[in-house]
Amino acid sequence: MTEQEIKLVEAARAAQKRAYAPYSHYQVGAALLTASGRVFTGCNIENAAYGATVCAERVAVFKAVSEGERDFEALAVAASGEDMASPCGTCRQVLYEFAPHLILYLTGGRGQRVEKVTLQELLPRAFGPAYLMEEC
Ligand code: THU
Repeated sequence: MTEQEIKLVEAARAAQKRAYAPYSHYQVGAALLTASGRVFTGCNIENAAYGATVCAERVAVFKAVSEGERDFEALAVAASGEDMASPCGTCRQVLYEFAPHLILYLTGGRGQRVEKVTLQELLPRAFGPAYLMEEC
């Protein structure tokens, strides 16, 4: 891994520590690298009304978009479970909207292993903006 990739994973791990997960006790952190070189982090933020919970990945994306960034290159996700982190379906869809060619670095609570995957692998045959921009 390059130094930049390692730093991105470390930023996800740092964000994971800020997770607010009193119900699931499953802490997730995300770090999103923009084409301009900025990094936006996110953590999961749960709510007593469970449906109001937001995942770490979407917090990072929404922070970035609301700050004027829409061009994303890579996302690191760190989760507390024994398994590798794996973004939920809703987050995959939200990521696809802005970054169909996104690269992801996933890591779990055990050890230092980091798995590199593409969004295309996680969300094949995705429905995206192109479907709605086609001329009829
Ligand atoms: N969660 C994330 O933040 N990201 C994922 O990739 C999977 C799930 C959160 C949502 C909720 O706070 C907790 O993990 C359990 O679902």
